[in-house]
Amino acid sequence: MPDIRSAYTDSLNFYGNHSPRELAETYGTPLYVYNENILRQRCRDLMTLSSQPGFGVNYSVKANANPALLKIIREEGLVVDAMSPGELFMDELAGFAPHEILYISNNNSDTELQNALARGLLVSVDSLSQLDALGRLNPGGKVMVRFNPGIGAGHHAKVVTAGKETKFGVTPDKMEEVFALLARHKLTLAGINQHIGSLFMEPDGYLNAAQVLLDLAETLPAATLDKLEIIDFGGGFGIPYRKYEGEARLDMNDLGSRLHAMISAWAAQKAYRGRFLVEPGRYVAAECGVLLGRVHAVKNNGDKRYVGTNLGFNVLVRPAMYDSFHDVEIYRSQGGAAEEEPMLQTIVGNICESGDILAKNRLLPRMREGDVLAMLDAGAYGFTMSSNYNQRRRPAEVLIQSNGAARLIRRRETLEDLARCLDDLL
Ligand code: LLP
Repeated sequence: MPDIRSAYTDSLNFYGNHSPRELAETYGTPLYVYNENILRQRCRDLMTLSSQPGFGVNYSVKANANPALLKIIREEGLVVDAMSPGELFMDELAGFAPHEILYISNNNSDTELQNALARGLLVSVDSLSQLDALGRLNPGGKVMVRFNPGIGAGHHAKVVTAGKETKFGVTPDKMEEVFALLARHKLTLAGINQHIGSLFMEPDGYLNAAQVLLDLAETLPAATLDKLEIIDFGGGFGIPYRKYEGEARLDMNDLGSRLHAMISAWAAQKAYRGRFLVEPGRYVAAECGVLLGRVHAVKNNGDKRYVGTNLGFNVLVRPAMYDSFHDVEIYRSQGGAAEEEPMLQTIVGNICESGDILAKNRLLPRMREGDVLAMLDAGAYGFTMSSNYNQRRRPAEVLIQSNGAARLIRRRETLEDLARCLDDLL
């Protein structure tokens, strides 16, 4: 039977030896499905951005922290960040050693900082008060400082993390205070980092901000620069979400060649022998993942056609939170008809809020009860942002391995899981 709309995943053999309907049957829905080959390819795109010695990719695990994926990412030679004790725990479960993890967080308690220090991690602080706190906890140690280069970027105001309208980073005009705190606690400035925001499709803003960070490094006294081990330009590399409109990809060749030229010239001029890092999350994980769900009800309300699914914003919050666009595929097992006439439809979830909308007014083949649907490009900030709202259980995750076979990498939550923190409190 022909599927209704599946050309994109068909072209990639996304589901390997399986069909999406069969996966939905076997594992239930909602279900996150990841493809190992695509994940590896995205890692390789990034690892080959520059051949400069010391160039590396620091995967930002907030995008997706499933240890099965982290292990693959590790095999591809990437290192990782952690921004909480939980992310650090996942990094360790996946086998990353302390020297392969950077702790890049904000507004930590002393206990959280101590937890990272006890494991021997290099910690990046993003305020003078956290620099002071770290110095008190670890006098004579090493530290990274996150700067705000003044240039922001991102697909939504909520994900712009540099410039004036953000809580992040230390502005370069505070350099004197930074040095005073470093001296007070005898700290070595082992790294500087930044992150300007999430999702750019043109390299210019990122490269300009990278140049600002290099300019800042240049102002460091020679003795400080000598000890600098890491310059981390941050993440934000975008992916094209509009797959069925043929949206262009971020030009990684252009970005890579310009970044390479910039850092290799700078390293040669400064005799810098440390590492240069980029810190993407979405670029690594988004495109290797889809979210499968099922249509349970359809209705017309006024002149709107609503397609009611089991994909509430508890499993994929991006559309509700940022008005994000995810493309949709539709799979039908019986009576499939590729000729279903396209019509405007709004796809919604099963959460009791009217903002529970996955896809608004989309021109799609007419969907029916029982259809399986996929939200594409859901591998980043999908499962990691899921919740138990309305006491719904978080979904299972399946990996389509390079040999085409499916492997369960996280079971679906049970009702007992919902009660697991209640213990004897009832
Ligand atoms: N480094 C730092 C310090 C970050 O805060 C982030 C993301 C990254 C790296 C990775 O950014 P990426 O390459 O993934 O753009 N939930 C939003 C994205 C929030 C990003 C937060 N920080 C979304 O779903 O679009």
